[in-house]
Amino acid sequence: MPVTVADLAAWKRRRERFVMLTAYDALTARVLDEAGVPLLLVGDSLGNNVLGYDTTIPVTMEDSLTFTAAVARGVGNAMVVGDLPFGSYQASAAEAVRNAARLVKVGANAVKLEGGRRSAKAVRKMTRSGIPVMGHLGFTPQSANAFGRRVVRGRGEEGDELLADALALQEAGSFAIVLEAIPAELGARITEALEVPTIGIGAGPGCDGQVLVITDLLGLTPDPTPRFVKRYADLRATIAEAAARFTKDVAEGHYPGPEHQYH
Ligand code: KIV
Repeated sequence: MPVTVADLAAWKRRRERFVMLTAYDALTARVLDEAGVPLLLVGDSLGNNVLGYDTTIPVTMEDSLTFTAAVARGVGNAMVVGDLPFGSYQASAAEAVRNAARLVKVGANAVKLEGGRRSAKAVRKMTRSGIPVMGHLGFTPQSANAFGRRVVRGRGEEGDELLADALALQEAGSFAIVLEAIPAELGARITEALEVPTIGIGAGPGCDGQVLVITDLLGLTPDPTPRFVKRYADLRATIAEAAARFTKDVAEGHYPGPEHQYH
């Protein structure tokens, strides 16, 4: 059965922990969907992980549309969350709705955007237009130029600001909020204070759900990775070994074999 925003609300009520993973292509999305991952985020981390940029900032609305559509084509039950890239929702709430609607038209079931009180007006207008919105607070990569080198957010008094941002997003209608790179105690505090679920990435075990970037989880991202990353596979090594074996087979005349030939 397709995952809906009502499911997330029920998981929060029942204190059932859940996961979200990023996905950028149809094949991977299908594998994750069949593995039972309930939420697939077509994050603007596609900028770093697919397009080779250093940050998410160059990602365009067209990029987000292309990859969201690909993921949506691979999915049966998972909720597909399309990311609104930098510059696609800041200018006005009306522009945010227009761009969010474009993501929904290509298959997103919900959209995500960064920022708290500053994004609340856009969130309200989108939710009133029938578009479920996921918020994103803490270290928000689209603000990398403004943040400088300090990655962990919400230490000290900044924690109260983040809590106020989270409450504003909830009040504006967000159905869930991603919390990135904040102290674990603050992750738990915000989670307790909210009726909507939090999804942590480097925000401690107190969040309702956890999200990881798929290339981090699979061990494709090179070192150094952030402290919160846990690798569940070593695909860098697997791919390198497969390529080396193919090269050797060809060099030694073992590939193509009789079973790989047409007659
Ligand atoms: O773009 C992304 O992948 C994200 C996750 C890190 C939450 O925003």
